[in-house]
Amino acid sequence: MSAGHVVDAEPYEPVFTGETMAELERRFAEYPNKQALLLPALWMVQERRGWISESTISEVAAVLGLTPAYVKGVVTFYTMYHTHPVGRHFIQVCTTSPCGLCGAEDTVRALLEHTGCGEVGATSADGRFTVVEVECLGACGFATPVMVGDDFIESVTPEKVPELLARYP
Ligand code: FES
Repeated sequence: MSAGHVVDAEPYEPVFTGETMAELERRFAEYPNKQALLLPALWMVQERRGWISESTISEVAAVLGLTPAYVKGVVTFYTMYHTHPVGRHFIQVCTTSPCGLCGAEDTVRALLEHTGCGEVGATSADGRFTVVEVECLGACGFATPVMVGDDFIESVTPEKVPELLARYP
């Protein structure tokens, strides 16, 4: 097992049943074969469960006719997929050199302090936030860029952090 990978503690409840399976099947027609639906299927899992467990990897593999090893390779390649539980609001902060020179580390420190996460990659005790550092977010002229879920926020300074977090209860 890779470091940080969490195995389900509870009996496994499949994701692809009922309406979720019907939604996946409707999308089969949009792709050349069902294996090509791997990335959308993984998004469907993450939207519903918040993260992608080993058991879910096996389920997705069975549903799409792939091997669990192949699915795991894809899940672990893309940093957007979570292989462990994360907070309700997943915060990504660019700390690549240009933003680093403009104070990104100070913004990270303020985020860790005000969210209560304490350290990068950890989730706050109330389950509200997880803060991670990421590579260039493509807004190098607007340090420090931060993503909260799908929201993109530019020019985040330590002073702006409390007001920013208040928008995400
Ligand atoms: S280096 Fe931070 S957005 Fe590009």
